[in-house]
Amino acid sequence: MCGIVGYIGRRQAAPLILEGLKKLEYRGYDSFGIATLGSCIEIEKHKGRISEYDGRILLGGTTGIGHTRWATHGIPNDVNAHPHLDCSDRIALVHNGIIENFVELKKALTARGHIFRSETDTEVVVHLIEEEYAKKADLLSSVRSALHHLKGSYALLVIATGSDCLIAARNGSPLVLGIGDNEYFAASDMTPVLEYTERAVFLEDGDIACLTRTAVDIYQDAVPVSRPVELIDWSPEEVKKGGFAHYMLKEIYEQPQAFFNTLRAINKSSLPAFVCQSPSVTLVACGSSYHAGLIFKYLLEESCGIPARVDFGSEFRYFLPPVDGLVIGITQSGETADTLTALREARIHNCRTLAITNVLGSSASRIADATLFMRAGPEISVAATKSFVAQLAVLMQIVDARSEGRFEDILLHAHQAIEEVLLMDLSDAVMQCKGTKSLFYIGRGPFYPVALEGALKMKEISYIHAEGYAAGELKHGPFALLSPETPVIAICMPGETYGVMVSNIKEIKARGAPVIALGSEGDQELPDLVDGFIPLPKTHPFVQVLTSLVVLQILAYRTAVALGRDIDKPRNLAKSVTVE
Ligand code: G6P
Repeated sequence: MCGIVGYIGRRQAAPLILEGLKKLEYRGYDSFGIATLGSCIEIEKHKGRISEYDGRILLGGTTGIGHTRWATHGIPNDVNAHPHLDCSDRIALVHNGIIENFVELKKALTARGHIFRSETDTEVVVHLIEEEYAKKADLLSSVRSALHHLKGSYALLVIATGSDCLIAARNGSPLVLGIGDNEYFAASDMTPVLEYTERAVFLEDGDIACLTRTAVDIYQDAVPVSRPVELIDWSPEEVKKGGFAHYMLKEIYEQPQAFFNTLRAINKSSLPAFVCQSPSVTLVACGSSYHAGLIFKYLLEESCGIPARVDFGSEFRYFLPPVDGLVIGITQSGETADTLTALREARIHNCRTLAITNVLGSSASRIADATLFMRAGPEISVAATKSFVAQLAVLMQIVDARSEGRFEDILLHAHQAIEEVLLMDLSDAVMQCKGTKSLFYIGRGPFYPVALEGALKMKEISYIHAEGYAAGELKHGPFALLSPETPVIAICMPGETYGVMVSNIKEIKARGAPVIALGSEGDQELPDLVDGFIPLPKTHPFVQVLTSLVVLQILAYRTAVALGRDIDKPRNLAKSVTVE
């Protein structure tokens, strides 16, 4: 994880980088730091979030690098915060990724007299560059030589006294260059750059770039390469809160539009043939994206009779199931290490691969044979909401394409139902949830992964222990935990499983646990049976999947607000997990 920002140009670098880092804090927020280049390196770094820091950053200079950290090696403190310096304080470096062979490198460097200040894996890189820079006095070739010693993943930025350039290098961790007018930016993604330019160059693995005030030169090792300049149509306004209390709330409210835009952006007639013809589908994903995969599995199997399996990226890689045909990687960020590795593995095993992602130029789109981009716009809050709904838009379009357009009309109007539930009053349910230590969520069919996602949202932002279960499974163990203090949230929609869901609810009630049910408007039975009833618009099951999800997101959000949690930056989490 970790976010990095670099700048070279005519503006004061430190304030610009600081603002940029704030936009990247979703990638990690346990410490931050900036270094700028003048006649010497000036540096400031601090434990904690940028918003918690009450001092002023008074670094001069129009070239600089910055970092916001999600700790992997070494606890969050001022010393382990990036940038890191070499022994002579002439070179500063920020890094996102993991240097796998840092232990042996550190041993060798220490033996050669280098003094290490931090516990990070990163610091070896700056000492390796120091050795080369002492010999060559050329920063680009010094960084290049140092990189030859590294195993692992990195996006890194380097500045040094005596050199008027900023070096950026990428291998396995995202890094994009923003191309301005006699000014250049480097960052983990485009959000900090959008305010200044919409022109972006996505570096490839193995690229090393030399940024000066007037040019950018990119090399694969020592060979010059050219990379296309792409236009990013996300507006700077989209990465602001726009009057909402939290990014998460704003993003929840953007869901009808995100769903509709994504639906329209997927041209079914141009879906890759291998997606439309494959006799079976394997999906790989993590976190919320995994739940989107599970929902797809239910919809595809039931609507089209096409078998689908869903694997966690982290499991697929080490315990490869028998796969052939089509493997779909779902990842909003396009950078989740486990999902990327799974996609690579699928390719090695001769599968055709499709990536579904929200980020243009992301690693997933480079690995896969084809990519379907969602149109969710930038998502800043760590908890995935609109990107999740946009993933469902893509996946439901695939189901529709494979069932000869049977769901086209339903999907085209789905955003209206999502709109309707946004303003629902959930205060009674929030009261019931916020006082509890433990919650269960249950559903059947596609509403089972909806339950999983609802529970995930609740635990990640409210810190209440919440577990999702297939409704029929609760009696096989978790019943032992039921009590008046463990509310159960049941998603109970009309259809084949309605009767058995009602029986499950009765069994739960008989064990003293309160039940809050999400059901269909006009339901005659449920409201009298349960302790709280949340009526959703009476519509097609595909749409009820969406509306119930949105209601559970809002329930989690409102509960977390009532508990005073840090909504957009929940503890210990990061939005984009680029480590295994
Ligand atoms: C992190 C985020 C989750 C997300 C998961 C997978 O854990 O906090 O919200 O669902 O990564 O992310 P991806 O970008 O692959 O969808």
